[in-house]
Amino acid sequence: MRVLVAGATGAVGRPLVARLVAEGHAVTGTTRSTTGAGLLASLGAVPAVVDARDADALADVVRAARPEVVVHQLTALSGRPGPGGYEAWLEATNRLRREVTPALVAAAAAAGARRVVVQSVVFMTAPEGPPVADESARIWTEAPPLAGTIAANVAMERAVLGAGDLEGVVLRYGFFYGPGTMYAPGGVIAEQLRRGAYPLVGDGGGVTSFVHVEDAAAATVRALTDGAPGVYNVVDDDPAPVREWAPVLAALLGAPPPARVDEDVAARTQGPQAVYYGARLRGASNAKARRELRFRPAYPSWRTGFPVMVAAAEG
Ligand SMILES: NC(=O)c1ccc[n+]([C@@H]2O[C@H](COP(=O)([O-])OP(=O)(O)OC[C@H]3O[C@@H](n4cnc5c(N)ncnc54)[C@H](OP(=O)(O)O)[C@@H]3O)[C@@H](O)[C@H]2O)c1
Repeated sequence: MRVLVAGATGAVGRPLVARLVAEGHAVTGTTRSTTGAGLLASLGAVPAVVDARDADALADVVRAARPEVVVHQLTALSGRPGPGGYEAWLEATNRLRREVTPALVAAAAAAGARRVVVQSVVFMTAPEGPPVADESARIWTEAPPLAGTIAANVAMERAVLGAGDLEGVVLRYGFFYGPGTMYAPGGVIAEQLRRGAYPLVGDGGGVTSFVHVEDAAAATVRALTDGAPGVYNVVDDDPAPVREWAPVLAALLGAPPPARVDEDVAARTQGPQAVYYGARLRGASNAKARRELRFRPAYPSWRTGFPVMVAAAEG
């Protein structure tokens, strides 16, 4: 199958391209840089150098690739929040989701694609209801800390799900861990844990649903062909509160156990999103992806995946 991966050099893009090539697909992958193009060529893909915010240039790339399926993995989340704060840091990604998605969908339709698969996230549900929820959980559109980014995700999902004759598939991934992610040694969160700067907020009861990037890539390959158009949670089988997983990762990294901070202190010093993720968030169920995408995570739990991630980085 001819597949175009927009954002092919990121944490999921790389393992995704490798899997697609291994399965015999003809892959075009986008990047903005010649370094990225070299990486994609070495993985066996045809590189296309383009800034996705240039709609005409993006349409040219899609037309030339004649893809049957377009996969949207564009984000701008390398680096870390600066003095402007968390929401300002997310704005580049919000733009890619809000503004580039409709252009990518239009280009896919014009090129005769059958399906568009897009990267979304599970961690935008309202802090209410059961601790673990399915795809019908209410999205927290009025979230005070994250309203802009959640609105961008919702706009992206709508653009893909309402794409006329194109089949729209939204993959709501959990928090990525594995090589090249924030939780791997050297990543932003791993380094915060090492410095004792990743505290448990309040009771540490925010429930995190993780997914290893290899499993995210595997689910994405399945979504080329399997499953009806719609929304799928792509997470592991083991949603867990921060107070459970953070000390385990800290120990693996040789870091001290995370301290605790009150919610109001976390809100003041880190921003209100720290309270949402750390103390309020609900987890996500992968039952639909297991059923309809035949998703079978190789790392069903972060409990086995974290040690593999740390050993791989340190060995
Ligand atoms: N669900 C999650 O937990 C989640 C989701 C996304 C990211 N993250 C985390 O965020 C961190 C960074 O993510 P990442 O490694 O995927 O890198 P990233 O910097 O977010 O980039 C992702 C992809 O988007 C491309 N891209 C970005 N802006 C572009 C633009 N204007 N035009 C064309 N392409 C553009 C990048 O290509 P080039 O840079 O090659 O041009 C890359 O292929 C990682 O720690 C990752 O785990 C987490």
